[in-house]
Amino acid sequence: MTFYRRLGDLPRQRHTALRGPDGRLRYEELMGEEGFSSDSSLLYHSGVPSAIVDAVAWDPGDLSTRANHPLRPLHLQPHRLFDDRADEGAAGKGDPDAVTGRRLLLGNADVRISYVVGTAASPLYRNGVGDECVFVESGTGTVETVFGSLAYRSGDYVVIPRATTHRWVPSERSRLYVIESNSHIVPPKRYLSRFGQLLEHAPYCERDLHGPEELVLAEGTEVDVLIKHRGDAPGGIAGSRVTYATHPFDVVGWDGCLYPFTFNVEDYMPITGKVHQPPPVHQVFEGDNFVICNFLPRKVDYHEGAIPVPYYHSNVDSDEVMFYVAGDYEARKGSGIGVGSISLHPGGHPHGPQPSAIEASIGREFFDEVAVMVDTFRPLEVGVAGQEVDDGVYAWAWAGGRRAVRS
Ligand SMILES: [Fe+2]
Repeated sequence: MTFYRRLGDLPRQRHTALRGPDGRLRYEELMGEEGFSSDSSLLYHSGVPSAIVDAVAWDPGDLSTRANHPLRPLHLQPHRLFDDRADEGAAGKGDPDAVTGRRLLLGNADVRISYVVGTAASPLYRNGVGDECVFVESGTGTVETVFGSLAYRSGDYVVIPRATTHRWVPSERSRLYVIESNSHIVPPKRYLSRFGQLLEHAPYCERDLHGPEELVLAEGTEVDVLIKHRGDAPGGIAGSRVTYATHPFDVVGWDGCLYPFTFNVEDYMPITGKVHQPPPVHQVFEGDNFVICNFLPRKVDYHEGAIPVPYYHSNVDSDEVMFYVAGDYEARKGSGIGVGSISLHPGGHPHGPQPSAIEASIGREFFDEVAVMVDTFRPLEVGVAGQEVDDGVYAWAWAGGRRAVRS
């Protein structure tokens, strides 16, 4: 994120002494991507950021997956994973948190998509494998980070760079759609100037991105942080519980172009056209081998004969995952998909609207829908939670639910 920010106390020049009121030196840490060759920030700690006193294994949960074989479109219903819990109300003992409660739905070697309804405050956590982009389906709260605190609300993407120590503190029950990358998550390159500014044709700009406004300072010794990192465990992911000598939330100031931020879908300006616009106009972010798009309330095609829902398409190079967040997703009418549903349309198989949705869309001027899409360029496998909430019948919906009878 090449957009400079600063917060708290800094020395006038980098790599020079900064002292606290008691005269003690602060400890400077550079957090940078691509080995000193890409975006970075400088953070000033009151404790030594590398001082650890223990490290033990931590089980990051069941990350095993199974191929989508035989190949078919899937309809997953992630709300069912948490529906047995009291739906609203204060946090209680044993309630899931937004980190350790995650259930893996879909994943491959580039990205993992999980779902969690977080109620309790999470432990301190850091993803050492890649950036995370967490979409807030509903709920409010704060993400406390070494860069400061981020308030979140429904419709936010919370983008947290790799290796950022943080914790989720919901102020109300929070339904979270978690996109964990093995790379960095950034705005599409075509939206950016050669120096990294968001261009005029981009559907959002720097003013819409909200970084930390206030530092989070905490005191303590022997503080545990859960770290997700590369390993041999299923999915190539392992976990460790590392104990820091002093509290990691000891940053008195930082500046740079690398930090967590939020972006709300309300601030996205949909690009519309005279006839149907292809999904790349709805793109928000991208990582290695995947993109994130959103379909938002918007005026639709104004050609007098336009068909506003998509044509059938074989996205031959990608698997497409849609998360239906709000409204009435026009193209899926009649398929069993509703708010809270997830569909997977795998590569190697064409997909498109339910046949009745095509006629019904002609003449429509506005679509009231909110959906988040992840397109991956390598096949997605299905996690244990995905297998648990697969409706098992979505694949036959385009044929009116009919399934061949084999003798
Ligand atoms: Fe599609």
